[in-house]
This record gives sequence, C-alpha cells and structure tokens, in this order.
Amino acid sequence: MGLLKKFLNQTRKPEGFLGKIILKGMNFGHAKGADWAMSYLDGLTPSGVVDLGCGGGRNAAVLLRKYPSARVTAVDYSPLSVARTSELNKDAISAGRCVVLEGNVTSLPFEAAQFDIATAFETIYFWPGLKECFTEVARILRPGGRFLIANETGGTDPVGRKFEKIIDGMKVYTQEEIMEALKGAGFSKVRCEHHPSLPWITVLAEK
Ligand SMILES: C[S@@+](CC[C@H](N)C(=O)[O-])C[C@H]1O[C@@H](n2cnc3c(N)ncnc32)[C@H](O)[C@@H]1O
Repeated sequence: MGLLKKFLNQTRKPEGFLGKIILKGMNFGHAKGADWAMSYLDGLTPSGVVDLGCGGGRNAAVLLRKYPSARVTAVDYSPLSVARTSELNKDAISAGRCVVLEGNVTSLPFEAAQFDIATAFETIYFWPGLKECFTEVARILRPGGRFLIANETGGTDPVGRKFEKIIDGMKVYTQEEIMEALKGAGFSKVRCEHHPSLPWITVLAEK
C-alpha cells in the first residue's frame, strides 16, 4: 500500500502514529464544513447531544460551546479517537458536561430516547448499512429529535468518487440514497441543504 493510501485509510478507523496525525488533520480540515452544517442547528435548545464518529473531538467541543446548557456525548469505535476527543474536551468532562465513549453505530451503548440531537460529520461513508445504522440513531433520539449528517461530497463529484477508490470500505452516497435510508429508518421532515459553491451537503431529519 502506498504511503498516501495508507495515510488516507486512517480516516476509516484511526490508530497508531498515522492515526494521531490524521485526527489532528481532520479536526482542522473538516472544521469549515462542520461549522457550515452546524449552522442548520441554530436556535435549538437541546439538553442532550451526541456526536457519532467523533474523530478528534473538535466538533464535540464546538457543540459544547454552541449549547452551553447541554451535555454532549461523543462516540467512536476507534480507541484512539476516543482518547483524542477525551483529551481535547477534558475540562468539559471534568465539569460533567461531556462524556466520550467507545462504541459502534451499529449498536450504540445507550438506552432509547436519550438525545435531542445526533450529529454525524464525515463518518457515514464507513457505516455498515445506512438504513440499519440510521434506525439505531432513531432509537436513541427523543421524539422530535434531530439528526444532522454532514458530508463534504454529494456522491457525484469527482473528488468524492476519487476518495472512495482510495479508501478501503468507504462509500460515498448521493443525497437521494441518504434521504431514502433516513425515511426507511422512520425519520420524517428529511431535507438536504447544498453548500453554495462546494459539493458539501447537509442532510437533516426529525424523529
Ligand atoms: C473521517 S473520520 C471523521 C471524524 C470527525 N467526525 C470529523 O468530522 O473530523 C470518521 C470517524 O468515524 C469513525 N467511525 C467510522 N465508522 C464508525 C462506526 N461504525 N461506529 C463508530 N464510529 C465510526 C472513525 O473511527 C473515525 O473517527
């Protein structure tokens, strides 16, 4: 495997030395896209937020600032992501406002109806079976809870397609595929927002 491919493959489940570097890089590189997507959650007053596939933990930190009275939980199946997110958010963890857990979106370590908002930034490409994983997200949301998905590819642009070929196990989705899976998982009010100049999409749904 070439070094670039080896490096980019760390995005699927960061580990080891390269994983540490990619987590730092994603915290920085995904920030603009994540902030654009999060603007669609303005005006909400959640008490429980969960960030799924939290990576380096930068988005959990932003969610903690965005919703000062909420408790933010961050989940990732990579122990290294859990460690980095915990380190970055250690003050909020000490203050009892943040919890970081190792877990897989196929079977989340939560009882039903625990959260008002679930977010998934740049991660659903790696989830095994969208409809099944979205059903699991629906389970942990309260009625009326929101699910926000942010992808820097709408599945048809050349860059997204290129990454899909380089990164093993990655699947880029069109907005139609995401929206259909959300509806199949029981979500309603499903809508997609497009960035005005980039191929980024944000899909929002309500339980
Ligand atoms: C490309 S990174 C994105 C990280 C972060 N959300 C961001 O925007 O920078 C994808 C993350 O999703 C995690 N992930 C992928 N599949 C997962 C699954 N089935 N369950 C939990 N986490 C998963 C990976 O370990 C990785 O940290």
